[in-house]
Amino acid sequence: MKRIMIYYHSGAGSTKMVGEIVKVLLSKTFAVDIMRVEADYNYRAMDDYDFFVFGFPVFGFKVSPSMSEFVDNMPEFEDPKPCYIYCTLGLAGGNALYNLAETLHTKNMTVTGYEKVLSPGSDASLMFKGKWARSLKKKTPAKIMNMVQTINNAMKGGITSSVPRFKYGWNILEKLLMGIVKKEEKKMMGSLRILTDKCTNCGMCITTCKRGCYTKGENHPLLDISNCEFCLGCVHHCPYNAITFLKDEIDKPRLNEKFFKAEKEKLLARLVVNEGTQ
Ligand SMILES: Cc1cc2nc3c(=O)[nH]c(=O)nc-3n(C[C@H](O)[C@H](O)[C@H](O)COP(=O)(O)O)c2cc1C
Ligand code: SF4
Ligand code: SF4
Repeated sequence: MKRIMIYYHSGAGSTKMVGEIVKVLLSKTFAVDIMRVEADYNYRAMDDYDFFVFGFPVFGFKVSPSMSEFVDNMPEFEDPKPCYIYCTLGLAGGNALYNLAETLHTKNMTVTGYEKVLSPGSDASLMFKGKWARSLKKKTPAKIMNMVQTINNAMKGGITSSVPRFKYGWNILEKLLMGIVKKEEKKMMGSLRILTDKCTNCGMCITTCKRGCYTKGENHPLLDISNCEFCLGCVHHCPYNAITFLKDEIDKPRLNEKFFKAEKEKLLARLVVNEGTQ
């Protein structure tokens, strides 16, 4: 049986959820594994797979730092390896998919398709005032079916390169906005803190943050943001809402395991119905 590996990076959980659903659907035909990208990954493990999927969230119009570092550190392969790429995003992804495809190309990987999926609950729900949509987008099931079909076709021998187009407009907009985005991000990241009166020292943030920003402390973990990518994983997944970066967001609902479990069930139910009617 042919083997597929899905590599993802995810802060809140949208990108992980999409990868897990794709895994469920592809597992009917292939042996599929899924894993979050790791800084100390042994890339030789890639020899065991026939096809790869890379999923990442867009942060500031760019590939998330964790995914970017993961592919940058990947060796260049002797024989071409086929892959598929997707991102999740709140609004606009700039040239992020194109940029990832470019890096993968330098590693001798052939990108056979790509997709962008709006996240079911945007991080903007925490960053800005007001109410934001926090449920599945209409087009999401069709987008996931498209991902699965494209990967199925490629696995059946239809390996052709299909890469996102570079858009100059995005590049100009990115250059114009990047200063503001970076400034805001730095400000919010600098305000990331533990509310010590709410913290139970459960240690969840230490395991959630794969960039080593939290370490064990006597009454509560210690936070060092020098390697933080502002993925918001710790904020969403603290069981006691004890991690915050803005005072407005303290009591806002989080995109946690429970949220994504419900979204995943809804999506899978719709996808199974869609498959049955095809
Ligand atoms: C720091 C930060 C920057 C973001 N920048 C963008 C962006 O430039 N464009 C966009 O459409 N969404 C942006 N988003 C929203 C995320 O891409 C979106 O919520 C994504 O689905 C998160 O995936 P995850 O849940 O797997 O982390 C940003 C989110 C964060 C936390
Ligand atoms: S996850 Fe939240 S409650 Fe648990 S140790 Fe971290 S900050 Fe404290
Ligand atoms: S400390 Fe930064 S990198 Fe670590 S989980 Fe929180 S936001 Fe993400």
